[in-house]
Amino acid sequence: MIILGIETSCDETSAAIVEDGYKLHSLVVNSQIDLHKAFGGVVPEIAARSHIEVVIPVIEQALDEADMTWDEIDAIAVTQGPGLSGSLLIGVMTAKTIAWAKNKPFYPVHHILGHIYANWITDASDGYKLKDSLNFPSKQPEFPVLALVVSGKHSDTFIGFDHNDWTVIGRTRDDAVGEAFDKAAKVLGLPYPGGPSIAQQAEKGDPIKYKLPKPKVDHVETDLIKLREKLSPDSLVSTNISKTGYDYSFSGLKTALLRQVQAEAGVDFRFPSFELAAKLNHKQIDDFSASFQKTAIEYLIDATVRAHQEFQPKTVIIGGGVASSAALRQEISARISKETEYAPPLLCTDNAAMIAAYGYFYAQHNEPTSPHDVEIRPTWPL
Ligand code: KG4
Ligand code: ZN
Repeated sequence: MIILGIETSCDETSAAIVEDGYKLHSLVVNSQIDLHKAFGGVVPEIAARSHIEVVIPVIEQALDEADMTWDEIDAIAVTQGPGLSGSLLIGVMTAKTIAWAKNKPFYPVHHILGHIYANWITDASDGYKLKDSLNFPSKQPEFPVLALVVSGKHSDTFIGFDHNDWTVIGRTRDDAVGEAFDKAAKVLGLPYPGGPSIAQQAEKGDPIKYKLPKPKVDHVETDLIKLREKLSPDSLVSTNISKTGYDYSFSGLKTALLRQVQAEAGVDFRFPSFELAAKLNHKQIDDFSASFQKTAIEYLIDATVRAHQEFQPKTVIIGGGVASSAALRQEISARISKETEYAPPLLCTDNAAMIAAYGYFYAQHNEPTSPHDVEIRPTWPL
């Protein structure tokens, strides 16, 4: 089954063609980073306008690069949510129209589950231009799968027992981890997106120079409680495990960084935060970057390690923009004693290949949706 995927939930316009959920025939990603850089973050109105301009050329290029015609496309999958309303609208309207006009089965899907399915892509067609440079995992994940989806908008941990059976066991109570990186970068005067610019400074910095907190969250997801009751009702009574969850809070970490930067700069909270970086020297910016990156990643992986001990998954996977972090990949490899393979960074940041891959597995368990009945779902809960 050959699926055309379309993704426009935030600031990337992307189209891709994937066969049977694993083989990449083409992937086109038009990133808007340069349009938003001057504003230090994504401006929704600008994002939507850019999607309108490029969505059709991006889809045509995906067909071109795959050397395919519409006749060879078996179905259309699109990100229905969550995301920015204006951005989602362009992708969903386009996908609906194509599905209707070309009479193709239509699968609107959840963006965050899409990030998970980037890990099912293990090969590319022989003609695909990036085939040799994309370092695909050697095999598809095996259930049970522990999945960490970390990006500018999501920090979610899942356990999956089957394609149709994913449970969220942890999520952020406030900022997403990528958002925390973006905000920390702003305080340190580094360009958007914050993750890669902090990573670059961190290479020269001392990661233990500044001590930052890893906020403890006393919250256990309801679905995790139900899952524990189902899996091992007896052990819950006799252990403390029922009291621990996997939720995060990144807003406290970001504020702690701000306070320490203010202290180093010799000013208090009344000083404008966008002028703070000018009061720091290069060494301080490098050390803050390294300390922030180390703490944020350790904090994420502490929970992943605990979840790994509890659920003993066969495979651990990562997805989302922050999953392209080399520091995060090293931390998982070092602390989870299984051979861990990762989706290539190009498939971790927002892209349509993951939507086409997920569309395939979704189609195995769900009927196609009538394009007439589909609306965007900007706040689609998991
Ligand atoms: O998945 P993505 O492209 O878009 C969203 O769905 O949000 O993720 C973008 C996020 C940004 O917050 C960016 O700062 C973060 O991913 N990011 C990183 C790295 N590369 C991108 N964060 C930490 N380290 C990185 N190397
Ligand atoms: Zn995303």
